[in-house]
Amino acid sequence: MTLLNFQTVDLAPAAQDFLGEVLQGLSQPVKTLAPKYFYDDHGMELFEKICELPEYYVTRTELSIMDELSSLALPASNQLAVIELGGASSFKFRRLQRSLSDIGMYIPVDICRQALFQEAQKLARDCPDLKVMALCADYQQLESFPWETYTAGFTPVVYFPGSTIGNLTPSEAKSLLTMLRRIVGPNGYILLGCDLVKPLSALIPAYDDAQGVTAEFNLNLLRRINRELGANFDLAQFRHEIRYNTAENKIEMHLVSLASQTVHLAGTTLQFAKGESIHTEDSRKFTRRSIENLAAESGFCIDQWWTDSRDYFAITLLGSVTSANILSMRANQSADLSHPFLRRADQSPTSSAARG
Ligand code: TRP
Repeated sequence: MTLLNFQTVDLAPAAQDFLGEVLQGLSQPVKTLAPKYFYDDHGMELFEKICELPEYYVTRTELSIMDELSSLALPASNQLAVIELGGASSFKFRRLQRSLSDIGMYIPVDICRQALFQEAQKLARDCPDLKVMALCADYQQLESFPWETYTAGFTPVVYFPGSTIGNLTPSEAKSLLTMLRRIVGPNGYILLGCDLVKPLSALIPAYDDAQGVTAEFNLNLLRRINRELGANFDLAQFRHEIRYNTAENKIEMHLVSLASQTVHLAGTTLQFAKGESIHTEDSRKFTRRSIENLAAESGFCIDQWWTDSRDYFAITLLGSVTSANILSMRANQSADLSHPFLRRADQSPTSSAARG
């Protein structure tokens, strides 16, 4: 059956140079591996498990805040085109549909082609009135994409959940938001999920759970390198380790060598000292101030800010810094209505008007 409301665009990111990047990262004085390689099939399964762990408050808290966004008012004339970054799984978008009823178009973007296309097609089937365009691309390819062809007549809203922004370096995050500002234009928005600074007693277990799923997820990167690149990492000789970097407010994930050892990879011999680590990922934690600064550096300001009762996670609506919203900001200094289009959930005890 052909679905009239469904299409795909495959920008098929050029085959990534997995071997080149691994060799490069492992030959640095401080060894690193790129986190984008976590997500092979097993990695994706493990990540889904992480999201359900009792210690991993992130997904649960984000979803609970989304349920609070129940009465977002909508622009009268324009429907929204929601562009979701990392949209291979549509369950968060389905939640968002409950609060943003006037979505006319959905554009999930991901590099996991198969999952992306399958999920998007299911969604198109379930929502016949929604136009769905699944875009297989990586973030760098978004800049030159002909957005007007697809989003003309809609108000674009980029949805970037999961605090994935925290897995980027500050300069990557700034470039991404600056690019998104160009994509959505002066009338568009970013709906951003960001994990907040909190006590280490909550933070550490979220990345080092009792069942060892996160450890398995981290170690799976070495398993993948063995399988796809023919290396001989002995997984029993590496340990998952979490460190909190207080200066930068970030969780660091490492794989620490338990012994002095050598590993062979594509004709190269890699040396590991006992206790030496491979730094695999950062997960930055934000404050309202740090998000405000990041937004300002990229041409946005915080229009709305919603958080949970513990202040663990925030969902924020970023709008362009334009003279119009500077005026509305002044006019609405103490009012609930902080944006001409979007109104916060009036009944929600946990939401707060950004400009109040
Ligand atoms: N962005 C989320 C976070 O930083 C999800 C995530 C990415 C994650 N990589 C992870 C969670 C590794 C646990 C382990 O929390």
